[in-house]
Amino acid sequence: MKISVEDAISLLKGGLIVALPTETVYGLAASILFPKAISKIFDLKGRPQDNPLIVHIGSTDDISLYAKTLPPSFNALAEAFWPGPLTLVIPVKEDSIPAIARAGLPTAGFRIPDQDQTREVLNATGPLVMPSANISGKPSATSAQHVEEDFGTGFSVLDGGECDKGVESTILCWDNSQWTVVRLGALAPDAFMTVLGYVPKIQELSKDKTARPLCPGQLYRHYSPKAKLILTEKIEADCNMAIVGFADKNYPKKCRLFSLGNSHNPEEAAHSLYAILRSLDMENIACACVDMNFPNEGLWLTLRERLQKAAAD
Ligand code: TXA
Ligand code: MG
Repeated sequence: MKISVEDAISLLKGGLIVALPTETVYGLAASILFPKAISKIFDLKGRPQDNPLIVHIGSTDDISLYAKTLPPSFNALAEAFWPGPLTLVIPVKEDSIPAIARAGLPTAGFRIPDQDQTREVLNATGPLVMPSANISGKPSATSAQHVEEDFGTGFSVLDGGECDKGVESTILCWDNSQWTVVRLGALAPDAFMTVLGYVPKIQELSKDKTARPLCPGQLYRHYSPKAKLILTEKIEADCNMAIVGFADKNYPKKCRLFSLGNSHNPEEAAHSLYAILRSLDMENIACACVDMNFPNEGLWLTLRERLQKAAAD
């Protein structure tokens, strides 16, 4: 059910949950003033309780109400990239953000989304937690229609059209006296060089399964359609399966192409990624090959990571 900005504000102020658009993906929003609504978000998504939620804010004016300390370069990063697809994880005053939203951690991730309607909502409601608006484990939602596919047509959605970026925010965590990328996202790691003076390291998942990653979400299955995905650098000439690939490349004639756009345009591929993964299921495709023959740099790193997660058992 499509709702207006005014409806979204009054529903959220009344302790209810609505879906809001952002420039990355749609989010399921609840006010940090309503821990019960936050708890219901976990139920609705089928999300593990130990996976914390990002706190979305309308401006940095009140950040000192929540932050315990502001790590070096926090202000410079916020100035350079907010509003935008960057989440900054920092230590917080624990009584300022409900423990359920933080999954009990002493930190929280913050971001200001670059979407005018949602910023208008945030400026009226105050901070909102907003995980991606999809059933846990499934591809994220990049349109109001995707949200309705997962939560039903009766669910309240503020329709902001298709999300511009199409993949989630990049998450930087302050740890061990440096910023580390703990989730790849719409901003490539090199983007931070000018502000930080270094390219932040990407935290790799430890082989030691008992070690906790800095980003708990990295432990879970993500972004997966029902269709089985076979990742390959080379599509064989006799292949007759559905292919997730690129419009400007030649694939065997019998293959049906689900196009991520032009192979030289990672922004376009990111924009269409989740819609394409969702369309495989809409078209009852049981199995598809994914053309992974693309560069190992910039935004392509995020696409590679999302596709690897989507293909994992
Ligand atoms: O682009 C985005 O970030 C979208 C839109 C709606 O803003 N939101 C989003 O939320 O992707 P979600 O819940 O799908 O993913 C949040 C990720 C999870 O992997 C979670 O573990 C991590 O952020 N996270 C949240 N709080 C954290 C914290 N305090 N420390 C480390 N990781 C945290
Ligand atoms: Mg998510």
